[in-house]
Amino acid sequence: MTLTSPNFTCSPAIPATPDPAALTARETFLADLIREAGALARRAFADTSTPQVGMKGPQDFLTETDAAVEDLVRSRIQASFPDDSFLGEETGGVATGPVWVVDPIDGTANFARRIPHYCISIAYVADGEIRLGAIYDPSHDELYAARQGRGATRNGTPIRVAQTTRADAACLELGWSNRLPNATYLAVLTAMLEAGANVRRAATGALGLAYVADGRSDGYAELHMHPWDCLAGLLLVEEAGGRVCGFLEADGLNKGGAVLATAPGLAELMSRATNVTLREAPN
Ligand code: IPD
Repeated sequence: MTLTSPNFTCSPAIPATPDPAALTARETFLADLIREAGALARRAFADTSTPQVGMKGPQDFLTETDAAVEDLVRSRIQASFPDDSFLGEETGGVATGPVWVVDPIDGTANFARRIPHYCISIAYVADGEIRLGAIYDPSHDELYAARQGRGATRNGTPIRVAQTTRADAACLELGWSNRLPNATYLAVLTAMLEAGANVRRAATGALGLAYVADGRSDGYAELHMHPWDCLAGLLLVEEAGGRVCGFLEADGLNKGGAVLATAPGLAELMSRATNVTLREAPN
């Protein structure tokens, strides 16, 4: 199996819990930044001239907007927090110490086909933990935001995961890519369907995770994701009362890895269907 990723390297996290004031400065900055980036993406989406769509690999698309949004986000972060490092889907980076992890357009395949279901996803990781996460859906003007230990919100309103416990009432989302064999995903899909759940795929893993945090879906699973696709969403789900896998603990920042996020009432089913272990529920 070959995992494709941009050229980036990670050094061990610097052990320093971020000072709350410094984190608050980044939290405020992040909310403004992701809306600015979203406005850029929305303008590009509305431009009806033929979009320039390239291919990074089979079923792996790249638009001019991915590059433009990442340039904007990278330059704003460098100007405001020059000592922080940066890791982006399109340009890579070197994660030394605190790092911003950025997906400029998640759901590029939707964006390229003019389907208004895509987002920008930005996480801030320090001392080996996801401290901040934000996901912005420009089409619906929905900003999801979370800060570690302080809950998750949509446009400022607190959100919680669903209370679903019955598999035959559950609506799950499964994502996949050609980074793993089809048979692996088909086995997970079969297990979910046989349990009685509905399963969908909306082609943006980051928004899929935000929807779990918001109670719109009961769980999201994908057996390999890159860190820019999932870190912000994993924090959102945990802060909204859900259960998540230990992505960073399994060296996900370097290698990517399996992603599982679920409403607590479906944790056992989701873990069994995917064979992915969940972190202990916080007290
Ligand atoms: C992709 C989307 C997709 C997921 C893939 C990701 P991109 O990200 O999140 O839903 O299944 O694993 O690579 O390419 O749209 O940024």
